Amino acid sequence: MKNNVLIAPSILSADFGRLNEEIASVEPYSDIISVDVMDGHFVPNITVGISVVKRIKTKLPIECHLMIEHPEKYIEEFAKAGAKIISVHIETMHEKTAEILQKIRKLGCKASLAIKPATPVSEIEEYLPLMDCAVVMSVEPGFGGQSFIPGALDKIRWLREKKPDIDIIVDGGINAETAKLCREAGANILVAGSYVFGAADRKAAIESLRA
Ligand code: DX5
Repeated sequence: MKNNVLIAPSILSADFGRLNEEIASVEPYSDIISVDVMDGHFVPNITVGISVVKRIKTKLPIECHLMIEHPEKYIEEFAKAGAKIISVHIETMHEKTAEILQKIRKLGCKASLAIKPATPVSEIEEYLPLMDCAVVMSVEPGFGGQSFIPGALDKIRWLREKKPDIDIIVDGGINAETAKLCREAGANILVAGSYVFGAADRKAAIESLRA
C-alpha cells in the first residue's frame, strides 16, 4: 500500500517562456514534473511536444501525459527525450492497449494508463498487470484551472483495492482540500498545475498537498 504522497507539478500552468526557471522554482519541493502533451485532436488544446521535453532541465523524473491520438507513434521519442513515466489514454488505444503498455515498459519507462472522467474504471481492469501507474483524470482533459470532479474518488478507491501496489496518479483540480480527499481515497501521486504555479508561495502550496 502506498502511503506517502508524491507531488507532480504540471507545467501546463507555468510560464512557457521561462520553463526551466519555472521548473527550478518548484523542483526542490517536488517529486515528479508532469508535462501535458496535447494535440488539438484528442483534446481541444495544443501544448508542447518532444522538442520541448528534450530541453527540460530537471533532476526529477518527468511524466509525459500524452493526450494525443496515436500515442504509439511517439512513445519512443518521448522516452528518448527523457520521459520516465509515459501516461497514455485508454480512449486513444483502439485495441492496442496491451501492446502499447508493453512497449512503454520495454523502453525503460513506467507504463501509465489514464482514463477520462466519463470512462468507467472497469475498462482498465484487464490491463492492471501491465500497468505501473493509473491516471485518474479528475477534470476533463485539455485545460488547467478546472474544478475537481468528485467521481474520481470512487475510481481511486477501486484501483487501490484491486492493485494495492499500483501508483495512482490523480490529475486535475488538485488543491489542499481535494488533495486530502484523494490521499484518503488511496492516491499516492498528485498532479497539480494552477494551484502550484498560481500560488504566491509555491513551496507552501506544494507542502499543503502533502499535509
Ligand atoms: C488537463 C491537465 C490538467 C493539469 C493540471 O488536461 O492534465 O489536469 O495537468 O491542471 P490543474 O491542476 O490546474 O487542474
